[in-house]
Amino acid sequence: MSTQNSLAQIGVVGLAVMGSNLARNFARNGHTVAVYNRSTDKTDKLISDYGPDGNFIPSKTIQDFVASLEKPRRAIVMVQAGKATDAVIEQLADAMDEGDIIIDGGNALYTDTIRREKEIAARGLHFVGAGISGGEEGALNGPSIMPGGPAKSYESLGPLLESIAANVDGTPCVTHIGPDGAGHFVKMVHNGIEYADMQVIGEAYHLLRYAAGMTPAEIAEVFREWNAGDLDSYLIEITAEVLSQVDAETGQPLIDVIVDAAGQKGTGRWTAKAALDLGIPVTAIGEAVFARALSGATSQRADAQGNLPTGQLSTLADLGVDRQEFVEDVRRALYASKLVAYAQGFDEIKAGSDEYDWDVDPRDLATIWRGGCIIRAKFLNRIVEAYDNDPELESLLLDPYFKGELGDLLDSWRRVIVAATRLGLPVPVFASSLSYYDSLRAERLPAALIQGQRDFFGAHTYRRVDKDGSFHTLWSADRSEVEV
Ligand code: ATR
Repeated sequence: MSTQNSLAQIGVVGLAVMGSNLARNFARNGHTVAVYNRSTDKTDKLISDYGPDGNFIPSKTIQDFVASLEKPRRAIVMVQAGKATDAVIEQLADAMDEGDIIIDGGNALYTDTIRREKEIAARGLHFVGAGISGGEEGALNGPSIMPGGPAKSYESLGPLLESIAANVDGTPCVTHIGPDGAGHFVKMVHNGIEYADMQVIGEAYHLLRYAAGMTPAEIAEVFREWNAGDLDSYLIEITAEVLSQVDAETGQPLIDVIVDAAGQKGTGRWTAKAALDLGIPVTAIGEAVFARALSGATSQRADAQGNLPTGQLSTLADLGVDRQEFVEDVRRALYASKLVAYAQGFDEIKAGSDEYDWDVDPRDLATIWRGGCIIRAKFLNRIVEAYDNDPELESLLLDPYFKGELGDLLDSWRRVIVAATRLGLPVPVFASSLSYYDSLRAERLPAALIQGQRDFFGAHTYRRVDKDGSFHTLWSADRSEVEV
């Protein structure tokens, strides 16, 4: 532990699990770290448990904490999102001087970050909303970090963050994302993509279990095999671990004793809400959020279970589907749906970036998500290449490599959805992703009819395929057309 005469390069306020792990990560990487927590027991515990790991300067007041930082002061706030974050930012701003940097490392809503940045900038300080992904383990051993805020602050903050971030092929998983709320927006969409990724894995598991009749242990093996191919990712890897876990108390597979009601902290919901406001169809993320909500509608589900008609259900055998081929089809359906989810997430980031003038580079995101975060995957290298080939790509699905992949995946994808439907098994993201794909590539959409209906009941007008202008049919008169 350090003596008080050396100042700290970085400070952490809020020493719950994420904050203390981040502080330890900085210390292990050779930085002197100022630490402060509202209740001193957490500060004392960090120092007594991990003091020998590096140089910490503990403080009992925010004023002492600020005084223990070298200038420009850099303090990361890791307290509860919302009011607590506002309170701590206010205390820090009061104690700091012009040019100092306050970093909010929590999962703040990007609109809050935009507001806070304005308020703090007006006081001559820098405010950086930084998304930090990777959970507790990532915070300690190398997260993926998405800092927003003024580019100037990254000059001083960047090297510090780069020293603690995950590192893939010599590239740290952190970069300046863009001004004000860009970092938290991108982190939010990252979490939305994570929801969709987890849901498609869940749908694949469900089909292998209840259509193919495989045991959790057998499915774990299938996921291990899949992890050696295109689907190689942290989420597939941990899925195999969860599925092979046996409950010590009952001897049952753990998965069978876990209540099937998924929790959520809200970032997936925020992603869907922001997409609705931006008018971007993130159907995979939306369905994943709704699937969690439906799973948690326990009383409704209890009333419906065994109590709603099913229609005529088939088995795989009835459909003449070979089990081994079905397993491969499910892998392909998972991969295709995952592609759609990522393409849609990147669409939302582009829309957010355009709306707020953030100039976010999607290539950077795919690069820094390759390590440290929950959606880390080999597949992200392909996304980097896609944006290398065409930085203005309209949709990831249009990248030549992914287009080729989709060509190989489509027949399997369609077969899986047919089978799931005939067996009565829910596949909300698999199915909606295919509908999205078929909509995107369709020559004509039923939107023409919607325009006709809108014009009929509300005189909302329509455009014609053969000439410019807006038109209205006089539906309640002689049904002639007028240009408006
Ligand atoms: P976790 O989920 O990891 O426990 P969290 O709930 O997001 O973390 O944040 C908890 C942290 O926020 C704690 O450090 C807490 O301080 P205390 O240990 O004193 O409770 C901090 N925190 C919450 N509200 C705060 C406030 N109003 N002012 C300062 N710190 C606050």
